[in-house]
Amino acid sequence: VDRARAAIDRHVRLVDDFPSPGIAFKDLTPVLADPEGLSAIVTALTHGCRGIDLVAGIDARGFLLGGAVARELEVGVLAVRKAGKLPPPVHSTTYTLEYGTASLEIPADGLDLAGRRVLLVDDVLATGGTAVAAAKLLTDAGAEIVGVAVVMELAALGGRSTIADGLGPDIGVHAVTVD
Ligand code: PRP
Repeated sequence: VDRARAAIDRHVRLVDDFPSPGIAFKDLTPVLADPEGLSAIVTALTHGCRGIDLVAGIDARGFLLGGAVARELEVGVLAVRKAGKLPPPVHSTTYTLEYGTASLEIPADGLDLAGRRVLLVDDVLATGGTAVAAAKLLTDAGAEIVGVAVVMELAALGGRSTIADGLGPDIGVHAVTVD
């Protein structure tokens, strides 16, 4: 985890006033493009992980990380996609964003999620709405969410408590770095 934090500090790109005035956005793109950065982050995301048998990566940057984490844990990977990308049939859930709504989908066919122990992976935990929606989609399909692992938690947005409220207090939330 220290190695990952050092790589983030070294390579993160700060963008002022994005996505709105007064917000200093932290872009992880250069961190993930760095060999040591990607390696350290993937290792840090798996920290403390036990008994996982599937990794679910959330659209879109969670795909990059989820695949690498799944390889590290020697399990399979599932992409939790934004609406309209998958062929039918799908399981779909709609959730509320700051402005409007969004939908996430997983295949409803060809995949048996019953009893699968899933680690959810994403780049950023902000309000937690996306992670809770993805988790509900998977649990409705029979999976068990064992934990949520993100590179960066934006603590002021309360995602950790949204996850505890939505998924129960026993879900482990692991953030490589907290901002
Ligand atoms: C970002 C981020 C998370 C989500 C976190 O994704 O990658 O998935 O927001 O926000 P929340 O905790 O408030 O729900 P975004 O919707 O920007 O999509 P992208 O990864 O495709 O850019």
